[in-house]
Amino acid sequence: MTQTLTLRRPDDWHLHLRDGAMLKAVLPESARHFARAIIMPNLVPPVVTAADATAYRDRILAALPEGSAFEPLMTLYLTEHTDPADLRAAAESGLIKAVKLYPAGATTNSHGGVRDLDKVRAVLEAMAELGLPLCIHGEVTMPEVDIFDREAVFIDTVLDPLRRTTPGLRVVMEHITTSEGVAYARAGGPDLAATITTHHLVINRNHILVGGIKPHYYCLPVAKREQHRLALREAATSGDARFFLGTDSAPHMDALKEHACGCAGCFTATNTLSILAEVFEQDGALGKLEAFTSLNGPAFYRLPVNEGTITLTKGDPVAYPSKIDTGEGQVTVFDPGFPLHWRVA
Ligand code: NCD
Ligand code: ZN
Repeated sequence: MTQTLTLRRPDDWHLHLRDGAMLKAVLPESARHFARAIIMPNLVPPVVTAADATAYRDRILAALPEGSAFEPLMTLYLTEHTDPADLRAAAESGLIKAVKLYPAGATTNSHGGVRDLDKVRAVLEAMAELGLPLCIHGEVTMPEVDIFDREAVFIDTVLDPLRRTTPGLRVVMEHITTSEGVAYARAGGPDLAATITTHHLVINRNHILVGGIKPHYYCLPVAKREQHRLALREAATSGDARFFLGTDSAPHMDALKEHACGCAGCFTATNTLSILAEVFEQDGALGKLEAFTSLNGPAFYRLPVNEGTITLTKGDPVAYPSKIDTGEGQVTVFDPGFPLHWRVA
């Protein structure tokens, strides 16, 4: 008997689509399964104004496959020069669904990010009033802090003080990678949630470094020790409404990943749902998959759940392409390292 699993159509609450040839190549990989996605604004140059977000949204819609109803949920990239009035208008018109905070220098294309949070106080206060979520890349950037400690240090020294000084600010801790992140999100009350990526449920730091360096497993925040991966698995599969899927699918051309100074990012859009079904099944939690992929995110973002459904069926291992061709280079699809038995019908 075939096993099937029907879910409300899922959303991706953290996605990098890029632009140009890359956008055209990777967008169908997300639009095939996901109804909506929160679109990261770290283009070069970044999406900082309402006008930038409108133009980017139009480029995404123009790149969609014929007939696709995929809805890009736009965000603005917070800078020390963000105009609170522009942001307010963008939120009130429904154009943007969140604002992204990158500490300057934390990750790919983040040099225009925020150095001094006092300079964005007026924006944060407007956001608290609007109920507009702030999506935070939660890593400190000081050279003296070890890369594996940067998330935990950020929570204590930046995130917690920020939330105390801006009551009512709604925050998404993006792509958490540690047990400290899980614990902080759990204790945070109704204005706090956390996204978890597919790849951080699958790999720990050994996968990146043991037996030769694996550039396609390198992303930021970098995968941590096994105990942290297990804490993320427990959080994601618990059904707890504070945790939901943000794939952080972050394509880079192979030539830039397989490089002496390789870019950070795992590209998981293509096989994410198959991987998640396998992971939840391994943990005896298939019944909690829908909460993680399709229910908890809309609840936090105060958006309706999707009307449609998708059905996964279990059978012989599914063969996914190992690479996606963009016409300007190839992008490697994340390899979970185990067979995937669940396919999206
Ligand atoms: C992202 C990218 O490539 O834009 N990279 C990554 O490793 N996740 C940026 C980010 O989300 O940190
Ligand atoms: Zn990201």
